[in-house]
Amino acid sequence: MSGTMERIENASQAGCLCPAWLAGFLDLRLRARLHDPDAILGPYVRPGRTVVDLGCGPGFFSVALARLVGPGGSVVAVDLQPRMLARARRNAVAAGTAERILFRRCGPDDLGVTGPVDFVLAFWMLHEVPDPARLLRQVRAVLDPAGRFLLVEPKLHVRAARFRAALAATEAAGFVQLEEPPVALSRAALFSCGPLDRVP
Ligand SMILES: C[S@@+](CC[C@H](N)C(=O)[O-])C[C@H]1O[C@@H](n2cnc3c(N)ncnc32)[C@H](O)[C@@H]1O
Repeated sequence: MSGTMERIENASQAGCLCPAWLAGFLDLRLRARLHDPDAILGPYVRPGRTVVDLGCGPGFFSVALARLVGPGGSVVAVDLQPRMLARARRNAVAAGTAERILFRRCGPDDLGVTGPVDFVLAFWMLHEVPDPARLLRQVRAVLDPAGRFLLVEPKLHVRAARFRAALAATEAAGFVQLEEPPVALSRAALFSCGPLDRVP
């Protein structure tokens, strides 16, 4: 097993990483009632844009993003688990949006995307990342200066104090918090880009 694969397997076994067998719960049709993607993403994603679904899992939001950016736009669906990416691809093929989505495997602390991109979504994934500050700096580096970053964490795993720490880490990576949009079962924050020269 390669070093990266070993780290991914260990993280999954240690319960830090959402296991691929749980993916079915994340792409249930019922989920659309709880997490209506148009309501959550529609205000920030326009046709023709380039967007990233970071920690895409089975692609519930990748498919929705592909619809929102339309035929002239593109989605980069990033995950470190090949089985999640395979499932995301199957869901995108079934939804007829696969040709607008680039499926990319990344490393635990390596975004693996080159910008510029207009929007990055990190939905229920940051708490699984070993070095969030590093990943957040990479997100900032690929985001267009007029871009937006939406961070959503699960209330069950991420208590208020931990979320406040994630907000502080995001601002330290060069973002400015704009609002805390309501998302069911979640803590969420929307960011714009701050000046990169203030990032340590
Ligand atoms: C709880 S699932 C959420 C999936 C998806 N965002 C959703 O809401 O349906 C978390 C996903 O993040 C991925 N992940 C965890 N750490 C990651 C990292 N450092 N880079 C990319 N993906 C990561 C996991 O493999 C898993 O697919």
